[in-house]
Amino acid sequence: MVIAIDGPAGSGKSTIAKMLAKRLGFRYLDTGAMYRALTWKAIQNGTNLGDKDALCQLMDQTKIEFQDIYGNLDVFVDGINVTKEIRLPSVTNNIHYISDTPGVRQRMVMLQQKFASEGNTVAEGRDMGTVVFPRAEKKFFLDADVEERARRRYTEFAPANKKVSYNDVIKDIETRDKRDTTRDNSPLVKGSDAVYIDTTKLTIEEVFNMILKEIEHIIKN
Ligand code: DC
Repeated sequence: MVIAIDGPAGSGKSTIAKMLAKRLGFRYLDTGAMYRALTWKAIQNGTNLGDKDALCQLMDQTKIEFQDIYGNLDVFVDGINVTKEIRLPSVTNNIHYISDTPGVRQRMVMLQQKFASEGNTVAEGRDMGTVVFPRAEKKFFLDADVEERARRRYTEFAPANKKVSYNDVIKDIETRDKRDTTRDNSPLVKGSDAVYIDTTKLTIEEVFNMILKEIEHIIKN
């Protein structure tokens, strides 16, 4: 069984997906981390990010793994723990090369489907309900105003990185939103069968409870 959660950066989907996986005893699949992991490796290897064939080849030579799939998961690339590195701005700002390469996406989709075929999964990303798991048991699309999403990210990062301003964060999010929603390959869109939740004015607990209500039938069985 798959529960698909899609939405833009800062919509709360990672927090909710992790909580849900724990609550249901499902595995948690962070597909953004997979795109981040390959971006990290491409940068490390000095791969030409504009060369789509080279990126596909790199993907074929790369092993992306998760550990502790029920909770705080660590991400490994060819056995190296890259959990922290893949969140660096140098990675985030270059993901679009990887995520807009059709051959890479095809390979990612296969890995993601394989992951879910091995056990019940809560999968989060941009194309979970629309492309990767069209027959998911339940699909959610989480959203929030860009100002609120930037505020959340800023509060998260400001203590560690005092050089980043709120305006920097909002600009970054807007750039990423534009890239994610307008790219040719599997853009971020809300599927007609997804439950839309605007989290702007909601606490995490409120969002979580709304989601639990929507999947009551799964919890009862
Ligand atoms: O969820 P995240 O912010 O860690 O994702 C990072 C980027 O990866 C996001 O801006 C677009 C890309 N991505 C994607 O194209 N498809 C997915 N299923 C997940 C993420």
